[in-house]
Amino acid sequence: MAATPLLELRGIDKSFGPVQVLHDVGMSVYPGEVTALVGDNGAGKSTLVKCISGIYTIDAGTVLFDGRTVTVNSPRDAADLGIEVVYQDLALCDNLDIVQNMFLGREQKRGIVLDEPTMEQMAAETLASLSVRTVKSLRQLVASLSGGQRQTVAIAKAVLWNSKVVILDEPTAALGVAQTAQVLELVRRLADNGLGVALISHNMNEVFAVSDRIAALYLGRMAAEVKTSDVTHAQVVELITGGRSGNLGLPPEGPTDFADFMPGGQL
Ligand SMILES: Nc1ncnc2c1ncn2[C@@H]1O[C@H](COP(=O)(O)OP(=O)(O)OP(=O)(O)O)[C@@H](O)[C@H]1O
Ligand SMILES: [Mg+2]
Repeated sequence: MAATPLLELRGIDKSFGPVQVLHDVGMSVYPGEVTALVGDNGAGKSTLVKCISGIYTIDAGTVLFDGRTVTVNSPRDAADLGIEVVYQDLALCDNLDIVQNMFLGREQKRGIVLDEPTMEQMAAETLASLSVRTVKSLRQLVASLSGGQRQTVAIAKAVLWNSKVVILDEPTAALGVAQTAQVLELVRRLADNGLGVALISHNMNEVFAVSDRIAALYLGRMAAEVKTSDVTHAQVVELITGGRSGNLGLPPEGPTDFADFMPGGQL
């Protein structure tokens, strides 16, 4: 692939106090593609996303956006670049309607009053551009939406701001079969519209259904970045659970660990 990644991470380290959670992590997200970020519970996926989005400050490493080195020190910096994140815990307000949620914190004003017609129109256009048809009224409270519809609103909110990279942290974790299919279709559409999409998922079927590339984190290290068409489910599961699969992934452990399995070895 000759394309420049929209987002490229190199050598990212992140510790919380004495605990190093990310070690020398590299990852690329390409325009027009879905990159699945996989890894076991606690592998560091959400932490990596929060580093990209400026919620956490990285200890070391480089972030390149469209080939340029950038500094992301706050969610505002990330948003200014066109990086939007849909978090695991959705951060929508139940007591507000769809339009209010989509513009929360970035309300459009005309003079000193809110410009409701413009916001409503922008929300409608964004949902239409994503071919979202299941939402009945834009003035419906988010509390009254299904899980899938909430995800749809959260994703629409993320693309409302001319975003170039959208990162989704387990958008289908709490959804039923039909709603999952809807959200995955939407994820695919974002990439087909030219965005770079990173999708965190634990579901192999979904990863294989929707992704172009797979990045596998293992204990805070990037075990492998592969094209989805080059690997099998079983290989990806091995990368997730052991950090390697055949000649893919992290190098084998040194001989000192091998001694653990020898008669008389420690442990
Ligand atoms: N704010 C924090 N302070 C201390 N440790 C943290 C913090 N956030 C995450 N960790 C630790 O970092 C590791 C990675 O956590 P993270 O949430 O990134 O995992 P994850 O890959 O997203 O897992 P999951 O699939 O369960 O969502 C875990 O061991 C976690 O306990
Ligand atoms: Mg997580």
